[in-house]
Amino acid sequence: MLEARALRKTFGRTVALDGASAEIGDGEIVAITGASGSGKSTLLHCLAGIIRPESGEVRFDGRRVDTLDGADRTKLRRENFGVVFQFGRLVPELTAEENVALPLLFNRHGRRESLLAAQSWLERLDVIDCAGRRPGELSGGQLQRVAVARALVTGPRVVFADEPTGALDSLAGERVMGELVGTARAAGTTLVIVTHDNRVAAYADREIVLRDGTLAGVAV
Ligand SMILES: Nc1ncnc2c1ncn2[C@@H]1O[C@H](COP(=O)(O)OP(=O)(O)O)[C@@H](O)[C@H]1O
Ligand SMILES: [Mg+2]
Repeated sequence: MLEARALRKTFGRTVALDGASAEIGDGEIVAITGASGSGKSTLLHCLAGIIRPESGEVRFDGRRVDTLDGADRTKLRRENFGVVFQFGRLVPELTAEENVALPLLFNRHGRRESLLAAQSWLERLDVIDCAGRRPGELSGGQLQRVAVARALVTGPRVVFADEPTGALDSLAGERVMGELVGTARAAGTTLVIVTHDNRVAAYADREIVLRDGTLAGVAV
């Protein structure tokens, strides 16, 4: 369903991806692991159509993603993907509930309906008390939960999560992982999680291991 073939991506003189490939099935939960700097985030961003590789191919449902222009990749993401970025990346001017409602508003849902859906996700992730606060007033853990709610609110086909528990203590991390994985399993959502935490990788069906921007192995 998601496929990356021989991806190469450089940032100046740094080679972030050097021939990385990955294949992810419909409804599969996959962890991308590897040392810091091995290219995990870059691979995730290429799969999600956020950045384009310099060479290689990315496909979603058989269709090329990497050849689409920015507007078409944005449209593809809004309609099919949810993304939890490494440091949350919420809009600082908006409240938590407005941040979570935003993907629905972009998809032309009504304001009231979008805010209600946002509130119910904030409740599920145990941060409903943060609904009216802006990101600057939230802790790292609260930000991460709000970011997870925002990724799930549209009921996407694929959720991409970059170190979703990085800012959480282990108990809170397990709660967030449980909600992410439980939601994905119940809805048949494909879940791609970047992590360097073995306990997080243990939730996955399969592990894709990167080393120096290339595939070092696949573990079940
Ligand atoms: N926007 C960027 N600008 C410059 N270098 C980058 C950028 N993004 C990633 N890199 C570099 O590419 C390499 C891979 O980065 P990344 O994919 O973030 O690795 P990981 O997520 O595994 O830690 C690293 O050496 C990193 O410093
Ligand atoms: Mg990273």
